[in-house]
Amino acid sequence: MYIPKHIAIIMDGNGRWAKKRALARYFGHIAGAKAIKPVVLHCNDIGIEVLTLFAFSTENWNRPKIEVAGLLKLVNNYLDNMDRYLKYNVRMKFFGDLTVFSEDMQQKIKCVEEKFSKNTGMLFAIALNYGGKDEIKNAVKNIANMVKKNEIQPDEIDEKLIDENLYTKGLPMVDLLIRPGGEFRISNFLLWQSAYAEFVFLKDVLWPDFKPRHIDIAIDEYGKRNRRYGNVV
Ligand code: FPP
Repeated sequence: MYIPKHIAIIMDGNGRWAKKRALARYFGHIAGAKAIKPVVLHCNDIGIEVLTLFAFSTENWNRPKIEVAGLLKLVNNYLDNMDRYLKYNVRMKFFGDLTVFSEDMQQKIKCVEEKFSKNTGMLFAIALNYGGKDEIKNAVKNIANMVKKNEIQPDEIDEKLIDENLYTKGLPMVDLLIRPGGEFRISNFLLWQSAYAEFVFLKDVLWPDFKPRHIDIAIDEYGKRNRRYGNVV
């Protein structure tokens, strides 16, 4: 099996999962949060270097207040219970514009990242208040300030410098982007990093029903792709 280095997942379909069961959307997100751990452990077991999950987008603030509060509560609970991952040797990273979150939450995030930093296994990354366009805008601002301060000349701006000014600095490009739930779009997720990602859309599964075997199905499909990176081979 040809294993991708970096898998990114858009965890879509929680709302519809709940609706099918005549439950409030929040219960879909609870079931969605439960679906995460087996997938993380499986990816770690099969040698994935980085797994990035899209947990909360810059656009998700537009959802009803009660849903936003529920999602943030779930993320906070998740942070409080991260210790259960320690023995699996994964490292943790949270990225996005985290400055909007409470001091308490930001502190928790720092503590978790620090606590896992000595591990050597897969990097488990969670995108929070993340938007690809917002990330690129921030990178452009940083670089413009460097030019203003005469630290670099405009001619010196290259792809490496842009990479280094993204939240994902140091991470490999996305190889495989998986989206369950039946939508065929990228939804502002890892726009720069997915330039040559292979997309696998699993239309018949909603995120709360997503299992490790769906990772295998996606990797199988990935293995059949001919990645040409604009070349002709
Ligand atoms: C998209 O489904 C899902 C989200 C916007 C949130 C994803 C969050 C979780 C899986 C749980 C919380 C995360 C962590 C890390 C604890 P949707 O609500 O758009 O579903 P729909 O398209 O069926 O309405």
